[in-house]
Parts: sequence; C-alpha cells; structure tokens
Amino acid sequence: MKNTKGKLEVVCGSMFSGKTEELMRRLRRAEFAKQSVLTIKHKIDNRKSVATISSHNGLERVAFSINNSKENINKILELANKNIQVIGIDEIQFFPIEIIDVIVKLIDAGKTVIVAGLDLDFKGEPFGIMPLIMAIADSVLKLKAICVICGKDAHHTQRIVNDVPAKYDDPIILVGAKECYEARCRSCFAIDKQAVLIPQAPQYKETQT
Ligand code: TMP
Ligand code: MG
Ligand code: ZN
Repeated sequence: MKNTKGKLEVVCGSMFSGKTEELMRRLRRAEFAKQSVLTIKHKIDNRKSVATISSHNGLERVAFSINNSKENINKILELANKNIQVIGIDEIQFFPIEIIDVIVKLIDAGKTVIVAGLDLDFKGEPFGIMPLIMAIADSVLKLKAICVICGKDAHHTQRIVNDVPAKYDDPIILVGAKECYEARCRSCFAIDKQAVLIPQAPQYKETQT
C-alpha cells in the first residue's frame, strides 16, 4: 500500500500579527484530537526564555531550542520520532536552508508540519528561506497587524533604532519586540532605500516564432 504523505502549513505576516498565537492554536487543536505534537523554536529567540515559544499576548508553550548547526537541524528528525504526528516550528525565518530538507522528510513520513515566521524583514524584503518555504507549502496564511501610525492593515515591520528608522545596511537579525519594532502599513513604512523585492529575478530570452 502507498504511504500517505503529510503536509506543510505556513503562517506568516509582520510582527504583532498573531503568528505565534495562530501556531499555538493549531497545535492545541491537534492535541485536543489526541495527536502528539513536537514544538521547535530557534535558539536565537531568547525574548522570554530559550525553552518556550511565546506570543506577544503572553501565551507560552514549551519547545525544543534548535540552532543552525547541521547536527542540531538533523536532530529534529530524531525528536520527531514515530509517535509524533504534528511538528510546530516558530520563527522559521531564522533557520538555514538545510531545514527545508528536514521538513520535506517529515512530510514524506506522513507528518503535519506547521511553521510560523516573518515573510518580510525590516527592509521590506523577503526574509531568508521564507519564499522557498511558502512555495512548497500546502497552505499559506498571511496575517496582518494594525499600523501603529494610521490604523490601516500593516504589512510591514518597522525597525526603530534611537527613535529613527533603521538603516538599510543594518544587520538583518536583531531579536526584539516593542522596544525596537512596530507594525506599519505600506504608506507609513520607512526605509532609506527602495526594497529589492526580487533580488535575482530570472532573465527570459525572447523566442522568435
Ligand atoms: P515575531 O514575529 O514572533 O514577533 O518575532 C520576530 C523576531 O524577528 C523578533 O525577535 C525580531 C526579529 N526580527 C529580525 O531579527 N529582523 C527583522 O528584520 C525583523 C523584522 C524582525
Ligand atoms: Mg512570534
Ligand atoms: Zn499606516
């Protein structure tokens, strides 16, 4: 008999849009149905604790911390043993490309993988592996926050350093919350350079017919 494959669900959006809350809701829902759940987070996110994922509204859930090393990434396959049916991964944008291979193996083994992460960085550009993850997903939910300036739907995350918008060349990773980030709509979002949305767009040659 053919083995049944699992699926990949993606929850993305700006900061303060409720991604971790939605991930927790889906994991809790699976647990109500007596499915065994494994929760993973990136070690870099130490905002509340390294041993839990936490939403901006204060909910917490115990999680395994994984760093970028190959051994650590492959450890997810060990942790997600036969009994585990659902794997939730928060802050997926921080992980290196090797995690995609792990996710595909989990799906091939019949598991449901639910990931949450930022689709865009503070520059307004796709965040790390997110475009790839979204492309291979079975479903993608894009959540929006509310712009702190005008109250419209917020698509962007504004990084503020010393009360002014961060510079385009600042490092991509800066762990933090309300003290250095705000949700902003497209009109209120400010960066000192036009975002490069498709850094390596494929070139097509015109063919003659
Ligand atoms: P959150 O989406 O769960 O609120 O968390 C996003 C984390 O990502 C938070 O620690 C801030 C960090 N971050 C970066 O490192 N670089 C960025 O460009 C942005 C927007 C957020
Ligand atoms: Mg979160
Ligand atoms: Zn706005």
